[in-house]
Amino acid sequence: MNIAIFASGQGSNFEAIARAIKRGYIKAQLKLLVTDKENAFVRVRAKKFGVRDVYVNPKCYPSRLAFDKAIIRILEQEDIDAIILAGFMRIVTPYFVKRYNHRIINIHPALLPAFRGERAIERAFACGRKVTGVTVHFVDEKVDHGPIILQKKVTIKAGTSLARLTAAIHKIEHILYPRAVKLLAENRITIKNRHVTIR
Ligand code: GRF
Repeated sequence: MNIAIFASGQGSNFEAIARAIKRGYIKAQLKLLVTDKENAFVRVRAKKFGVRDVYVNPKCYPSRLAFDKAIIRILEQEDIDAIILAGFMRIVTPYFVKRYNHRIINIHPALLPAFRGERAIERAFACGRKVTGVTVHFVDEKVDHGPIILQKKVTIKAGTSLARLTAAIHKIEHILYPRAVKLLAENRITIKNRHVTIR
């Protein structure tokens, strides 16, 4: 399986997946990093792992659809089978979702359907929740929505800080996301009526 990771920021999840591939835990080829941010640190990580990185500037396209079509052309050149969204701060179009149906996955730092959208860790913390977590899911037309593949709870301990909670969430992400990509690469995930089964 040839995969592309889409990211806009730090790229710690990119690194977790790249390492898991390097050590043979995930049997897949990480062919491409796609980013919409020229100075994203994830590009430095891509260079470190020798992964081709492509910066696509959204401002150079008249619409979201044109931007997505430009990316699809690149994905087709590289023969990409699956797309891993890892902190990609752009909503993909329904056209893109349809083109790669059930082959786009995303990670979200909350227990979906709770706290969809941005600043999910911060909002769970501010609302005084006792439990939050991490979700890996297939991407559909809605934001942070779609059949759930894996979820893991994280307890918000009394008196903890937002910084500590954030670190705990990231730690879980770096275990859960490689696990989900491994399942995808081994063709062990099936979806029927929007319901996921894992063998
Ligand atoms: C992660 O918290 C992920 O759940 C969210 O964006 C963040 C990306 O972090 N979708 P990184 O760039 O992988 O470090």
